[in-house]
Formats: sequence, C-alpha cells, structure tokens
Amino acid sequence: MSDAIRFEDQVVIVTGAGGGLGRAHALLFARHGAKVVVNDLGGSTHGEGANASAADKVVEEIRAFGGTAVANHDSVTDGDKIVQTALDHFGRIDVLVNNAGILRDKSFHKIEDADWDLVYKVHVEGAYKTTHAAWPHLREQNFGRVIFTSSTSGIYGNFGQSNYGMAKLGLYGLTRTLAIEGRKNNILVNAIAPTGATRMTEGLIPPQVFEQLKPELVSPLVVYLGSAACQDTGGLYEVGGGWVGKVRWERSLGAGFDPKAGFSPEDVAAQWQRICDFEGAAHPADNVEALKEMMANLQKYAL
Ligand code: NAI
Repeated sequence: MSDAIRFEDQVVIVTGAGGGLGRAHALLFARHGAKVVVNDLGGSTHGEGANASAADKVVEEIRAFGGTAVANHDSVTDGDKIVQTALDHFGRIDVLVNNAGILRDKSFHKIEDADWDLVYKVHVEGAYKTTHAAWPHLREQNFGRVIFTSSTSGIYGNFGQSNYGMAKLGLYGLTRTLAIEGRKNNILVNAIAPTGATRMTEGLIPPQVFEQLKPELVSPLVVYLGSAACQDTGGLYEVGGGWVGKVRWERSLGAGFDPKAGFSPEDVAAQWQRICDFEGAAHPADNVEALKEMMANLQKYAL
C-alpha cells in the first residue's frame, strides 16, 4: 500500500459506517492516519430500529490496529449532532463521506408515502443535514472534501426503485451545485455510484459474483477523493469489483428551429432522428456550456 496519501491531523466523518461499504471506508481512512468519526444508527436495511453496537464494533476494530476513532449513533437526519461529535472529540472536520442508506423497494404502483418519505429522509435530507452542518467549518478553514453516495439505480433507473433512484440522482444534483459553490474555498465535492457485497445487495446479486464484490474494493476511490491529492470536483464515479470509471452527461447537437416563426409537433417529428443523434455529441461541463447550442440557434435566426 502506498503511503503517499495520508490524513495525519485530519478528521473524517463516515456516515453509516457500522457495516458494509461505510465500514470499509472508515477502516481505510484510519489506516491512512485519519481520525475517524464512525457514525451509524444501527437499524435494519429497511430503516427500522437502532443499535449502537454497529458503530462501536468498527471503532474497536480501528483502535485494535492503533488507529483513532470515535462512535456516533445519531441518525443522519440529525447530521448536526454527528458533526458536533467530530468537533467535541477532535476539534475539526476535514472530510465528510455521506454513505448511510436504506432501501424500501417496491414497484411504483405499490409504493406508499412512508416508503417514499423515509428513503428521501435518510438519503437526501440526511446528507443535506450532515453536509450543511459541516459546510461552515470547511469554508472557514479553506479545505474540505465531501463525497456523496449515489447509485447506478439513480443514473440508469431500476425496477422497483423509484424512491431510491430519485434520492440517489438527487444527491448527484446536490454534488454538482456544491462543487460550484465550494470551489473557491477549496471544498471539492464528488459522488460515487458503488457496487459492493453488503447486506443491502445480498440476494440481489448472483452468489458467485457477490462474493467477489468486496466492499474494500470501493474504498480506495473514496479515500482518494477525500484526500488533498484529489483536485477534481463535481465528478461521478462508478466503482466496484476492482474497477473505477467516470460518468458524464452527453447531449446530442440537436436540431434548431426558427424561434420567431415557431414550430410544430410535426416539425419535431421530422427532426426526431437528428434530435436523438449522438454523432459529434457535446459534453457540457456547466450551465453556460449547456446553453451554447440554444444561444447559437437564437443568433442564427436573429437577422
Ligand atoms: P449497508 O446496509 O450495509 O450499510 C448502510 C449503513 O447505513 C448501515 O450500517 C445502516 O445502519 C446505516 N444507516 C441507515 N440509516 C441510517 C441513518 N438514518 N443514520 C445513520 N446510519 C444509517 O449498505 P451498503 O451497501 O454498505 O450501502 C452504503 C451506501 O452505498 C448506501 O447509501 C447505499 O444506498 C449505497 N449503495 C450501495 C450499493 C451496493 O452495491 N452495496 C449500490 C449503490 C449504492
């Protein structure tokens, strides 16, 4: 293991770190010298109950190899308390990994308000609350790294995961804007879409693949994104099984119509192939770049 990436005197919060991916992240950060706040409510995959022992066990594991860690048992929906634990014990916060999550899978016609609300609350509101509490401290010290945990179910969609997909792609939307707002204070914000063998994916992935998808194969990317060595922001990375790749938006060059003359649904139908043709596609990095083609179309017909 290379020791070039170190976190001495830095404090890392990992939410939902009592098991699965979060535990692997917490252990790897601690092995790289970070002081770690191991947060976990310790409930079920469906978001029921609570159990302090999940976080406590991971703290014990970290201390057993000489690392530094403290447990926090609050829900991420009380994210300010998690950040307060970091401040009380270590006096600062440098890196936040928003990892806690639950599932309430049901096909859309069967979904109930409680399934929708709880998934939103844990993933989106929980990540918001924790990040919002950490943000002023990151701004003040002109350094911070924030990682959100998205999902391929959000990026691509997945049967039975309307609530989860909504929340997970929402976190990428949050990533994009916080990357813009954080940049001038050296707060870099990225998102991962992981795949790992955890209690959340047990039974969903074929056993022979499942046993190869060790959670530890996700954490090196997370620790890199959490380090000062990483200078990229606003990215979305798929990671799992020893593979890492970056995802970006792609948009066709599209079709232009005369904005003064207007255009009909039949005009859209006639141009449909062109509208959907990705030959020479654009990859807008921001809003200004995204609006370029539209502005060019206005200009083209301005005379
Ligand atoms: P997991 O169920 O093993 O871990 C999630 C942890 O979050 C649990 O320890 C749980 O107690 C904790 N947690 C749940 N609600 C909480 C709350 N309100 N406050 C604090 N802690 C809470 O599942 P896994 O797979 O490790 O998931 C970690 C993250 O990765 C989740 O956000 C999940 O949605 C995401 N993810 C996982 C994938 C996978 O292949 N395992 C795929 C895509 C995304």
